[in-house]
Amino acid sequence: MELWIATSNNGKLNEFKMLLNVAVMEKFLEIHAQSELPVFSQPPENGDSFLANARIKARALKAVKPGTWVMGEDSGLMVNGLNGLPGIHSARYAGPKASDPENVAKLLKMMTLRPMANRKAQFVSVIVAFDPQGVEHIYEGKLEGEIAKAQRGSTGFGYDNVFVPDGEQKTLAELGLAHKNKISHRAKAVLGLTADLMKS
Ligand code: IMP
Repeated sequence: MELWIATSNNGKLNEFKMLLNVAVMEKFLEIHAQSELPVFSQPPENGDSFLANARIKARALKAVKPGTWVMGEDSGLMVNGLNGLPGIHSARYAGPKASDPENVAKLLKMMTLRPMANRKAQFVSVIVAFDPQGVEHIYEGKLEGEIAKAQRGSTGFGYDNVFVPDGEQKTLAELGLAHKNKISHRAKAVLGLTADLMKS
């Protein structure tokens, strides 16, 4: 069985491969990414929600890979003291071509500008998948935590080095990928997908 993943984010892709290979026996699941498709062009992510953007990604891939499982994920960090930002703009918070370090630097700066701001935050992952019959499935996961005052740790990607999950003292980037994959928003969203893949 093939599953095609609509992402150009290698951090995400690595996590999906690890999560799916643990949950679904590797020999039955061949994971492919959009980068393997020479004809695939990334659609504009102009939806107004995680769900809308995940659907845009999944539909674009379904158009070139009909008859197989395809999935798109949209995810991001919502900070209470920033009224839910960066949210769906997480990948481009510091500008259209911003790098992860630039986005993190902007986030910390915004928090510094609001010293009393609520540092509570959540990561959100919404997956839209289409099964080989073309039926849409939606899965969602959240991880609650708070924003650290400075960057700590070196694993993962995106905002991992400033996110401390509830009940922990360390950032996700200090806790490491094995720990992150037990608790993350993405791991929770993948649970529903793997259940459906096993049934398929
Ligand atoms: P997307 O690829 O458009 O869904 O953008 C997701 C963005 O949200 C990433 O580029 C990161 O900035 C942020 N993000 C989502 N999930 C995570 C995570 O697990 N760790 C750190 N940052 C994340």
